[in-house]
Amino acid sequence: MFRVGIIVASDKGAKGERIDQSGKLIAEIMTENGYKIEKTVILPDDRQVLAQEMIDMCDKLKLDLILTSGGTGFSPRDWTPEATLDVVDRQVPGIPEAMRYESLKITPKAMLSRAVAGIRKQTLIINLPGSPKAVQENLATILPALQHGLEVLKGTAGDCARK
Ligand code: MTE
Repeated sequence: MFRVGIIVASDKGAKGERIDQSGKLIAEIMTENGYKIEKTVILPDDRQVLAQEMIDMCDKLKLDLILTSGGTGFSPRDWTPEATLDVVDRQVPGIPEAMRYESLKITPKAMLSRAVAGIRKQTLIINLPGSPKAVQENLATILPALQHGLEVLKGTAGDCARK
């Protein structure tokens, strides 16, 4: 069972001024799909704070997957993609490409998400936008390929070419 950390980036959420719906929804959807949620945090939109939590989840907790929610747009406080790029060793452009490609069929505003994905050591980090609707739509896009990617990352998948 792959172990997941959830980071909700929200100034209001971190101050308790907004009830988190997206983190809960991510946990629900991932649990339904056979993933184990190890930790969920709601943090302010602060590049260094977000990056440090990602480092801890990767290096100390050694989680398989980190899903972030929020902070991918144009607001002056949206720094989640930059925090992610600060900590990853390798980018995974295909995941945000697929998310935007599928999401654009639903809303033109999908082009406004600057979400990125990448790998730090043996942990995959994926940015999701902040709204529950966007979370649901983007998870529906990535879930069909996610398990195989994580198996390859962990070295537990067979050779793709032989399938
Ligand atoms: N993607 C999907 N699938 N559905 C959505 O409703 N909302 C968009 C976009 N991506 C949306 C979406 C909007 S309105 C914004 S502003 C950006 O994600 C960035 O969202 P964030 O700042 O909450 O990360």
